[in-house]
Amino acid sequence: MQAVLDYLKRNQTRFVAELCELLRFPSVSAQPQHKKDLRACAEWLVSHCRAIGLEAKLCPTAGHPIVLAKTPRDKKSRKPHFMVYGHYDVQPPEPLDLWQSPPFAPRIVGKSIYARGSTDNKGQFFSHLKAVEAYHKTGTPLLCNLTFVLEGEEEVGSESLSAFLKTHRRDLACKAVVISDTGMPGLKYPALTYALRGIIAFEITLHGPARDLHSGVFGGAVENPAMALARLLAQVRDVNGRVTIPGFYQEVAPLSRFERQQAARYPLKDAQLKKLLGPPELFGERGFTPTEQRSARPTFEINGLTSGYQGDGSKTIVPSWARAKITCRLVPEQKPEHVRKTVLAYLKKICPPTVRLEISAGHGAEAYHVSPTSPLAQASIRALRQAFGAEPILMREGGSIPIVNQFKKILGADSLLLGLGLPDDNAHSPNEKFHLACFAKGQRMSALLWQELARV
Ligand code: BES
Ligand code: ZN
Repeated sequence: MQAVLDYLKRNQTRFVAELCELLRFPSVSAQPQHKKDLRACAEWLVSHCRAIGLEAKLCPTAGHPIVLAKTPRDKKSRKPHFMVYGHYDVQPPEPLDLWQSPPFAPRIVGKSIYARGSTDNKGQFFSHLKAVEAYHKTGTPLLCNLTFVLEGEEEVGSESLSAFLKTHRRDLACKAVVISDTGMPGLKYPALTYALRGIIAFEITLHGPARDLHSGVFGGAVENPAMALARLLAQVRDVNGRVTIPGFYQEVAPLSRFERQQAARYPLKDAQLKKLLGPPELFGERGFTPTEQRSARPTFEINGLTSGYQGDGSKTIVPSWARAKITCRLVPEQKPEHVRKTVLAYLKKICPPTVRLEISAGHGAEAYHVSPTSPLAQASIRALRQAFGAEPILMREGGSIPIVNQFKKILGADSLLLGLGLPDDNAHSPNEKFHLACFAKGQRMSALLWQELARV
């Protein structure tokens, strides 16, 4: 084992350079013009996996390709099998003018590496690849068989991977799935995440006049779709931060005492959170703490709002349409399809007859919950503790990784969520970064993990 840890230490500079290469691919899954970049990124990963001793191949899908890479094994091997899941696709980098350096020109500033995808998720899953490299290159036997599944559609709902799991369910059957695609509260607070929120996504468009109109000539006699949309959206939440859609909270599982205690121990305090995020005041559902609000309560969020003229100067029009991109975060027991129906029925009901409501449905996923006391979870806690030299905390996270539900349903495997991202990593924001210490300690954690998990 010492040889593995020494190898990791000795090779950090090269690892960082390799991660920079990976970060140069603009693998933005949401934007069709990047299709080729996703493919190129996947090909780079396949050849990198081969170079570090894995048997790797590129698996085409209806969408972006999946990279499948295995540690070499005998047919008869009786070592426990684990999957490592990650995603090489990234969020759109816009708005570009807010980046201090271009999003796909990775740059090291201080102790962090800045680029889109650095923390979410390339840097995080790359830590696991480097740990395996260390085993192979030092000739240290790995006590587990590992299969890496790296997909290119996580940020858009993981559609192709669901189908892939079904066709490869035998091959991918495993004791658990290890995922580093979440966060930790600070370098001194490694974390095991035991719950994620679910999600539903959709877009609504209100159509008014057949074309943009002169607002002086016609304004006042037709509904303004942007005004109508503002009114509509304003009606879904009250001043106490509660969603007012009838039935929205119907299935929500109440928070247990244990969970509220656990949330209260979360080390990032409200004042720090406010400072980090920069709003004039924090705001959330009354009766819950910010930690609870952002991890254990459902929400209704506008992700994008578009209507009318967006260019320089003014243009006096009544816009023909207005659109909102919306997601709701879900918590355990909420069924995505039920929430979707409830929400859309309400929007239809309150939509005035002066505009036409068009709805387009997007992806959806249930929330996820896994026991933090299982032997495998406890083994991962030991690996985190040793690697970070600090006591790991148990936490819920507000983000979603839709595919974890399919890992459970199709493969019967729980996910061990061992996140390496920091709260100030700017995931999904301009100037995304990944801390080099998270990278290095993540590699150590991964190396130690296979020992700990093999013993369970
Ligand atoms: N890495 C995140 C998920 C995450 C981040 C979980 C932080 C917990 C803490 C992942 O890449 C992500 O952003 N997922 C999307 C899923 C959606 C597009 C279906 C999300 O949560 O918005
Ligand atoms: Zn993400």
